[in-house]
Amino acid sequence: MIEIPAGREFYGSNPREHVANVLTLTDKIEVSQDGDLIFDGYKAEDLLSEFGSPLYVVSEETLRQNFRRIKGVFERLWPNKVLVMYAIKSNNNPAIRAVIHQEGGGGDCFGLGELHSTFVGGADPERIAMNGSNKTEAELGAAIQKGVNVNIDAVDEIRMLDAICADLGKVGSVALRIKSAPESLAGSPSDYLGLAGDVSKFLLREKWGFSVDSALDLVPQILNCRNLRLRGFSLHTPRFTQNPELFAACTRDFAETIIRIREATGYVPELIDIGGGWPRDRDPESRMHKLNSSSVENFAEAVVASLLDTFKSHRMPIPELRMEPGRFIVGNAVTLLGRVGQIKRDCGLVWVNVDFSTNNLPRIDTSGSAYHFLPATGMDRPYTELAQIVGSTCIDSRMADNWAVPALRAGEPVAILDAGMYADSASTQFNSVPRPATVMISGGDVHIIKRRESVDDLYRNTSVPQHLLPR
Ligand SMILES: Cc1ncc(COP(=O)(O)O)c(C=O)c1O
Repeated sequence: MIEIPAGREFYGSNPREHVANVLTLTDKIEVSQDGDLIFDGYKAEDLLSEFGSPLYVVSEETLRQNFRRIKGVFERLWPNKVLVMYAIKSNNNPAIRAVIHQEGGGGDCFGLGELHSTFVGGADPERIAMNGSNKTEAELGAAIQKGVNVNIDAVDEIRMLDAICADLGKVGSVALRIKSAPESLAGSPSDYLGLAGDVSKFLLREKWGFSVDSALDLVPQILNCRNLRLRGFSLHTPRFTQNPELFAACTRDFAETIIRIREATGYVPELIDIGGGWPRDRDPESRMHKLNSSSVENFAEAVVASLLDTFKSHRMPIPELRMEPGRFIVGNAVTLLGRVGQIKRDCGLVWVNVDFSTNNLPRIDTSGSAYHFLPATGMDRPYTELAQIVGSTCIDSRMADNWAVPALRAGEPVAILDAGMYADSASTQFNSVPRPATVMISGGDVHIIKRRESVDDLYRNTSVPQHLLPR
């Protein structure tokens, strides 16, 4: 037995207990009687043997349940129409998009690439929004051609869009992105961003959205464009807190901005889009391993109350509510599987190498994300040591720090939970390591939804000039 560090009580005394302590509502994860980790009915070891290692494994069922959960809570609370639009940046695999489309979900996209993956997976243009602070003519043209809604985030976009629509003989559907950095957050700590009391400054400095003063100028300009139809306003608040009331301070401020615009211009929005940032129960990007103290339901209740209180107290008609969850829908729907490699013991430490790296979970390096690492067989083995779980690239690539493990052996299968969001879509090929394959478990079938890259794939677009070629 080893001494469990404070704050890591979720370990229990072996990996089976660890899983039981951190399971969330929509996980399709079990431990068999023999101590094997099972995803949606499939043993981790069997998936790795058949499809190779490392491997992203998607649960179609978890995707559907996450989508229904967030849609269900807003439909229960909001008195008008609700549209959940999947933020495809969190995972751009078209098969994932296709599941959301089948569920009736819309989407949020950035740029031509995400517009493409959104439609490859199936999309109703009226349910899609294009975001971006620097959209090009080509991007705006493609958005208007397709008929998607554009969230305007630059002054020039208004003129560009109006001209594009005139050329194409179309009316562009647009919303204006609003900035929210309420002063009430100035003294609030951020659990996520490592900011002591500066959340409001942090939100203000982000490049997104327009202040109320700018919006008061821009709304009449948009309303004067013959080829544009202003549908409403958009907002996105990044994850910065586990406290729903602090998150809702931003939507309250957003609603107050909308009221001021109506008072000054008479404009009443037909829809509002409140963006992503919805919390997951197990939330690596909170930088904490323990489960979130507040659920998406708690966040939705606080946010809806902030909007409805403000609108109702000003007798404002309640618009359609749209949102753009990314991580909430796809986070726990994907697990990264791999195998143990070399194990080194020296200097009183243990390093367990694995065959994946922070290339495959880049938010470890960029956001300090804290993932759960599990052996995927022999889950009843007691812990014997605290190990440094390290990836196979030439940087530190620390997947888990001082992590409790049983006696691991080279070659055995392991898993990292919550590898759905900002993992494959943000992954890199550093050290010329090809990226893993992705499979989707759909009922009783397993489908390859992204084939494994080869070294040739990595170098397909490079060339060595003739005079430099080795003779
Ligand atoms: C405009 C916009 N919408 C939605 C999202 C998705 O956020 P999340 O994955 O936190 O739900 C993001 C994330 O950066 C975003 O910038």
